[in-house]
Amino acid sequence: MKGIILAGGSGTRLYPTTLVTSKQLLPVFDKPMIYYPLSVLMLAGIKNILIITTEKDMPDFQKLLGNGERFGINLSYKPQTKPNGLAEAFIIGSDFIGDDCVTLILGDNIFFGPRFSGTLKYRTKFIEKHGGACIFSYPVKQPERFGIVEFDENGIISIEEKPAVPKSNYAVTGLYMYDNSVVGYAKALEPSARGELEITDINNIYLKNKKLSMEKLGRGFSWLDTGTHHSLLQAGQYVQTIEENQGIKMACLEEIAFRMKFLSRNKILNNIKDVKNNDYYDYIRNLVK
Ligand code: G1P
Repeated sequence: MKGIILAGGSGTRLYPTTLVTSKQLLPVFDKPMIYYPLSVLMLAGIKNILIITTEKDMPDFQKLLGNGERFGINLSYKPQTKPNGLAEAFIIGSDFIGDDCVTLILGDNIFFGPRFSGTLKYRTKFIEKHGGACIFSYPVKQPERFGIVEFDENGIISIEEKPAVPKSNYAVTGLYMYDNSVVGYAKALEPSARGELEITDINNIYLKNKKLSMEKLGRGFSWLDTGTHHSLLQAGQYVQTIEENQGIKMACLEEIAFRMKFLSRNKILNNIKDVKNNDYYDYIRNLVK
């Protein structure tokens, strides 16, 4: 399974904060936003990851994350020249994906909940073995803002992109797992009315072929939006509350690299040896000891 983080877009809704930097590099409390989706891919056990961003912002992402060796992973980068839609990720990333399955996560999506790593690993293994696709849904208050999935006890019935009259309040979150057919499906897509290659159209192909499964992320799970100044601040406050209550860190990439055995204790300590008087790095030092 390969991983793709889509971190493009112009972030106009967050102007002027995103006039000179990418939205996915803004802080969510104590770390850059992209750490959160990257942590999800790592928790799924995915080590080969492509970051797709704008040409302008790419050097900043490279400066922040490098080739990934600091986290025991392999990172590569490719530009998306225009916001042509989420499904374009599979066209831009087709060489990178090769013959593999792929998980796509949006660079501004934050997931946090119990036993998530186990869920991700189970779904990854399932698709690698049996093919098909998996979406992750979550109940929301304003369903007209999202891709919406209608389902009953027999499974998924429909998926609609930002419907005026939503058939449920379950949003399709920005985390998707696919078998290798996704590349061909993306290449054959026509742009939608808003001129984009829609991920919802891809999901509908899998649905029609009876190859789409769903993981419901319910109560006790958090899927946070960072699309507005308001929700970005709220996400930061959420992370702060959890971290300060529990004395843990969310999306600490070094911690995940350690727990997933991507990196040895000594490697991690060596990587951070020069940073002193810093809460994030002190946390890592205490943890690996
Ligand atoms: C995109 C997808 C939508 C999904 C959402 C999750 O919306 O098109 O189906 O529910 O991400 O964040 P967009 O962010 O492009 O409005």
